[in-house]
Order: sequence, then C-alpha cells, then structure tokens
Amino acid sequence: MSFLYKTATALMRTLPAEPAHRATIKALKSGLGPITTKKPDPVLSVTVGGLTLPNPIGLAPGFDKDAEVPDAMLAAGFGFVECGTVTPLPQAGNPKPRLFRLPEDKAVINRMGFNNGGLEAYKNRLIKRRGKSGLVGANFGANKDSKDRAGDYVTCLKALWGLADYFTINISSPNTPGLRDLQQESAMDDLLGRIAEARAELTGDKPSPPIFLKVAPDLIESQIEQITDQARTYGLNAIIVSNTTIDRPDSLRSAHKSETGGLSGAPLMEKSTRILAEFASAADGRIDLIGVGGIASGADAYAKIRAGAKAVQLYSALVYAGPSLVMDIRNDLTQRLKADGFNSVEEAVGSDCLVMS
Ligand SMILES: Cc1cc2nc3c(=O)[nH]c(=O)nc-3n(C[C@H](O)[C@H](O)[C@H](O)COP(=O)(O)O)c2cc1C
Repeated sequence: MSFLYKTATALMRTLPAEPAHRATIKALKSGLGPITTKKPDPVLSVTVGGLTLPNPIGLAPGFDKDAEVPDAMLAAGFGFVECGTVTPLPQAGNPKPRLFRLPEDKAVINRMGFNNGGLEAYKNRLIKRRGKSGLVGANFGANKDSKDRAGDYVTCLKALWGLADYFTINISSPNTPGLRDLQQESAMDDLLGRIAEARAELTGDKPSPPIFLKVAPDLIESQIEQITDQARTYGLNAIIVSNTTIDRPDSLRSAHKSETGGLSGAPLMEKSTRILAEFASAADGRIDLIGVGGIASGADAYAKIRAGAKAVQLYSALVYAGPSLVMDIRNDLTQRLKADGFNSVEEAVGSDCLVMS
C-alpha cells in the first residue's frame, strides 16, 4: 500500500505545486487516502497543553486550510490535525504562482497569503464532523484588509468555540504584510488580553479547550523571552515553534530558491529546532511546546522532542514522501524512544537540553 501512495505522490509531483495540492485534497475527500487501523504504541501517548494525544505526530496547518479533510488525515495516522489558517472573511490570497517546490533541497516556498473560504464555511464543516473521534485543532488569523486584526482573532474564537479540540492563534505567517508585528510586546498585550477576556466569557464555569500560539522562527533571544512570558501571563496552553522562515540559507540549490515567501521543509529543521530549544530554555517547563519545521523522519521528530517539544507537526515532507510518511515516523519514533530506555514521550522531552546544561 505504502508503495502505491509513494507512486501517487511521485505522479502528483509532475503537476505544478498548487494544482497538485488541490488534486490531493480532492482524492482525500473521495476516500482515496491511506487508512491505518494500527493503534499507536502506548509509549507515544502524550499530554500537551492539557490535550491528550494518542501519538505526538500532528499535521501542520496550511495543508487543510478549509477543514475539508481532517478525518482523512487522522485516518492516515496523525495523532492530531490542525486545520486553517481561517480568517473571518473569505480571501483569495496572493496572485498565482505562489507555491514552489524546491526538490533538490526537499523544501517548499509559499506566499499563499491566507487564501481560504472564510469562517462560515469552515465552521459548517466542523459542525458536520461533531461527535467524530480524533483531535482537530482550529488555527485562525486576520484578514489582510482588516481594520482590527486583534478583533478578527476574537471573532474566530467565538465562532469556533465548542467545535475544535484546541485553537491556535497564528501571528507568524510572513505572507500577510505586518502580521508578524503582532508578536511585538504591546500588540501581543492587546491581542492576548482580548483573547483572554473572550475566553473567560465563553468558558463560564466549564473547562476551556486549550489555546496555543504559533510563532515565527525569525526571532531574537529577547523576543523569545518576551513571547514566552506573555503567553504564560495570558494563560495560553502551549507555544508552537515554528512557522516558515524568511531566511534563505546559502545551502539552497533549487531554481526557485529566490522566490518571495516562507521557506519550509528540510532547510528549516536546524533553525526551527534551535529556536525551539531557546523557547524551552525560556519556558523552563512552565508552558508546553510543540515543534514544527523540517520534520521528515522519526529521527527529526525525536530531535524536536529532545529539544523540548511535547508534540510535533509537519507538512512539507508530505509533498515529497506522501501521506504514508506518518506511519514510518510513528514506527521509527517508537523504536527510538524504546532503544533509549524511555517509557513515554514525556520522559524524553528536553533530554538534549538536560545533557547540555
Ligand atoms: C503551502 C504552505 C501553506 C502554509 N499555510 C499555513 C497556514 O495557513 N497557517 C499556518 O499557521 N502555517 C502555515 N504553513 C506553515 C506550516 O504549518 C509549518 O509551520 C511550516 O511549513 C514548517 O513545517 P514543515 O517544514 O514541516 O512544512 C504553511 C506551510 C506551507 C508549506
């Protein structure tokens, strides 16, 4: 079966990147994705930000922006699936082409610009899947032309409350001009203050679903400390490190290496893991972390966990390896944890930082 999916993925790569992605979503909607019935080894179960995952490998947002195929991706073996980024109003995104493969570098550059069908359609899809098993997170952002960007996040939180297992505030896309400025201290105070207020109203005396914050990898040490402190102050449950980078490492060889946008995939692994370790040091166990950026193997996932992540997410590697990759990573990670004598993911979290300190 895995061979079939690898062949289908290779065929998809003969199409331009964005049509190939649409065709993949269509195929998944028609039930053509891989289905795993294998239960994850109990060593993989972990609780992050209050959310207990059957396995720590998640689908990063951007793959399923409109919440069209979360169940198909859960069936492929992901422990959780994050849909989005959704914005209150539908948005066309940037002019095409805006998605580029960098095959020699096992990387992707995108400048999609939050293209999505809007909150109403997204919400209706989540309503339809109510009661189904499998953890689905809702990642949201602001419309490009919004006059009140912080207000857009509150609008999304209110509309989607009760429909997702967790929420992610995305302030880290490089493709909406000025969005990453929301990572600055005063902007974060305003945004997270308004989110906390809305959350308190929505929660009442019931338990609240976790809310995570997704950050960019292009940050300096003082920003990492500031963001960590504010995330804790405003009661967020985890920080997701990281989105794509605007850096262009000298190592890039592919024809599209100079396209504008966010770089993801293998060349992001080293940088995003280093920033993750810096967040782990700033957090000092007081807020959970999720590691994203360049994961293409069990070894990569394990490196993120040892750098301080309780769970991980991936997207770009799927472009090259296809959806059967998730089971390969699950199996490999299980073996690596056991070989090193860990009884759980939790025991391995930050083990590299402990060695270094
Ligand atoms: C085509 C594309 C679209 C993306 N769209 C989003 C998005 O809408 N929201 C978001 O938070 N991250 C988005 N991302 C970033 C990914 O979620 C992830 O953080 C990043 O790609 C690094 O992980 P990877 O190297 O495994 O791809 C996108 C990435 C790609 C490649």
